[in-house]
Amino acid sequence: MNKQAVLFEDDFFEDEIQRCFFENIKLSGFSYEEVDIGDITFKAGQEESIHRWYRLTPSYSPELVRFFLKEFKLKENDVVFDPFSGRGTTAIECQKKGIECISFEINPLLQAVGEKSLRWSNDYDFSLFNKYITECRGLVKKHHNQTPDEVAASFRTTIPIIHDVYRWWRPSVLRDLIIFRSVLYFESYRNIQDLLWVAINKAALDCANIHRNHPTITFDDDHGREIYVDYEIENNLTAIRNDLIRYCGPRRETSKIICCDSVNIDAGFLGDLQIDAAITSPPYPNRFSYVHQTRPQLHFMELLSDRGAATEIDLKAIGGTWGRATSILQKELIIPDEELKQHLCYYDELSRKSILMCNYATKYFSDMRLHIRGIRPYLKQGFRGAYVVGNSRLSGIEIFTEVILGKIFESEGFSVQKIVSFRKRGGRKRLYETAVVVSR
Ligand SMILES: C[S@@+](CC[C@H](N)C(=O)[O-])C[C@H]1O[C@@H](n2cnc3c(N)ncnc32)[C@H](O)[C@@H]1O
Repeated sequence: MNKQAVLFEDDFFEDEIQRCFFENIKLSGFSYEEVDIGDITFKAGQEESIHRWYRLTPSYSPELVRFFLKEFKLKENDVVFDPFSGRGTTAIECQKKGIECISFEINPLLQAVGEKSLRWSNDYDFSLFNKYITECRGLVKKHHNQTPDEVAASFRTTIPIIHDVYRWWRPSVLRDLIIFRSVLYFESYRNIQDLLWVAINKAALDCANIHRNHPTITFDDDHGREIYVDYEIENNLTAIRNDLIRYCGPRRETSKIICCDSVNIDAGFLGDLQIDAAITSPPYPNRFSYVHQTRPQLHFMELLSDRGAATEIDLKAIGGTWGRATSILQKELIIPDEELKQHLCYYDELSRKSILMCNYATKYFSDMRLHIRGIRPYLKQGFRGAYVVGNSRLSGIEIFTEVILGKIFESEGFSVQKIVSFRKRGGRKRLYETAVVVSR
């Protein structure tokens, strides 16, 4: 499965960017390994139990987590850390194997999805699923002449406070979604509430007027699709039941996901925990905003108190790039300290081209350095970590994330064991996904 790349032979390179990528790794002195474990994207997870309950396109595959669990020889009683949990791929995979995992996630929607995906209670009453669907169908029929606002008032709730709400959901779709969401909180469904939440959360996006299977959310205003909220939710519940039948039981719930900030690690969350390994993937410096991309569900599942709350989370998130997070970076050039600057090989050229992009990248790497510093007190001797990242291009300048991150790890007292490259993405604009494998 593993193949050592035939690095640096002249006829090896397919294009200039590929040549730069390898040249840069060669210059860094880090050892390099190429690994083929199949599709490492979110798509592979959509075929697997539990993982398929939520689709986060920047997720990595469960196979990637299994690869590092094996590589690091992790077993029960070891503690794995995922400071950038996303939809919870690492936590789910660890729990399937009975390995303890603690994960952090700053986005409350993703934290909730992940945490609810880990409740493998033995006590679920799956017969309530049918009762719930039947009751909701009855209420949909009863309220079919009402507007979403009227229905929301009947159930003492509100319609989502997202801008241009009917561009996101047709009124009839939103009305039905609100009914399903309201019934979820009825006392009679308390036993299955978390599972209903997961099913509705997935349906809220699948029933929206957006292009599906795109990495970023864009409106699909004239799609003309027939949307049946009840069938979407029923199908989601069937998948959830089928998956849980396999996993519910006496096995321990070994993973947990906490909503907190991995840049400023709060000692209260890790306590005296000692971590054996990290398997994680921070955001890439590619201007993808997780908060922006999850905003319809953040709003629909009522996780934000007001519209401004989303921007506030994005400001704290690594690589956040939405609204104020961008305007703040436009002001004046950030001058990093010498220790950091020596690793930022893009800095001089990019600062001449675009202050915004240069600041964006510099903030990204200084946040990552703070994170790396913050975890040091919690690592067991012999700790190993895999940080999966991608390179990117800002204003036409290559950002070799893996090498810069590796250098920062070294400055903070870690050893870089190797850079593992998984696969190549894209056509002409080449992008690489790599894991920086470190130890301490
Ligand atoms: C590449 S995604 C992780 C995907 C994950 N490996 C999976 O399979 O779903 C990066 C995640 O880091 C989160 N994040 C960004 N800044 C953070 C911070 N300061 N603290 C904790 N999580 C953060 C983002 O919200 C996003 O979910």
